[in-house]
Amino acid sequence: MNVVMDPARTIRVDLAGRSYDIVIGPGLIDRAGALCRPLLAAPRVIVVSDETVAALYGARLAASLEKAGVRSDIVTVPAGEGSKEFDAFGRLMNDLLDQRPDRKTTLVALGGGVVGDLTGFAAAVLLRGVDFMQVPTTLLAQVDSSVGGKTGINTRHGKNLVGAFYQPRLVLADTDVLDTLPRRELLAGYAEVAKYGLIDDPAFFAWCEANGAGVLAGDIAKRTHAIEQSCLAKARIVAADERETTDLRALLNLGHTFGHALEAETGFGPDLLHGEAVGAGMAMAFDLSARLGLCPTVDAERVRRHLSTIGLPTRLRSIGGDNRRRWDAGALIGHMRGDKKAEGGRLTFVLARGIGRAFVSRDVDEAALRGLLDDAIAA
Ligand code: NAD
Ligand code: GLY
Repeated sequence: MNVVMDPARTIRVDLAGRSYDIVIGPGLIDRAGALCRPLLAAPRVIVVSDETVAALYGARLAASLEKAGVRSDIVTVPAGEGSKEFDAFGRLMNDLLDQRPDRKTTLVALGGGVVGDLTGFAAAVLLRGVDFMQVPTTLLAQVDSSVGGKTGINTRHGKNLVGAFYQPRLVLADTDVLDTLPRRELLAGYAEVAKYGLIDDPAFFAWCEANGAGVLAGDIAKRTHAIEQSCLAKARIVAADERETTDLRALLNLGHTFGHALEAETGFGPDLLHGEAVGAGMAMAFDLSARLGLCPTVDAERVRRHLSTIGLPTRLRSIGGDNRRRWDAGALIGHMRGDKKAEGGRLTFVLARGIGRAFVSRDVDEAALRGLLDDAIAA
């Protein structure tokens, strides 16, 4: 008998009535119609994508949906973080309503984290809530943003400050689409992969050290393993703390307090991608942990070495498009106080007692933080 093995793997996000599958594997865009169809309230979807991704994969997704008897239309937004701005969100809502959706229409996010966050929030509020599915096309979106139901948009007060916890009905991570992703975007997503090892899985971090270059070079088995392990970790954490009411889900913010401050200083623009900021932020969080005597210095050095060897910017002087950026410790600390994780203005960080031993720390000593930032700026 000729048995054809399905190379796709499925991970369940266990959230009682809102549980869903993450399917990971090659060629899933072409199978999306058949995989989505049983979950649709009606055979009608509106795909939301950015212009770059729509040009690459929109027609294939539409063909797959049509083959499964699903009517689809597509609405596109410009590529980039600007599409998460309030005004852009308003335009998207009107474009969606132009398509005359009803409450059984499902939105499908085809793109990276920008499209996923935006579409998820649109689904949460369109006609007071319609279903949505994620077809993530960046490594960052496949290992992090498409899973867990954090959706939202940006305001002049900061990133993701308006949003909702709203879970997708399905996540389809087609590993083939990463072949067209620019290397810089791939690297930025890789920072979020390594993050899962640093949080609570030292064996996975060791795997990353040995295999990260292969993941980036396109080794399909290694790439799939990295995505699968990341989604398993994220699914486990989200199932236990969906709305970040304990400190568990907050561990996913390792590197984010520093990272958001760096992104804010660089204007959330192309000088520093979100994943790059997380990578640099994780190196700084381990350095701060070592400086505070919480974490062995060798562990902090190991983190920085792996991230920089793989090609991520970990030094402030390598961030900013040119070498003339003037960093200011006071300005960075100001951004950290405004972060949505800072409760009552208290500085909140994810620190570590070692690789794979992350924890949430409030009231971090400001003098130590300032010392770290001054040294990082001078280095
Ligand atoms: P992105 O969505 O902007 O995508 C990056 C770029 O890659 C875009 O220009 C896009 O057009 C292009 N692209 C996407 N897929 C491609 C492909 N397969 N081939 C070629 N080009 C492709 O960026 P991102 O890094 O995926 O996401 C960043 C966003 O995710 C931020 O807004 C961040 O706040 C958010 N985020 C959300 C969560 C969450 O839990 N909701 C977690 C992490 C990050
Ligand atoms: N990316 C952080 C979270 O999903 O909680």
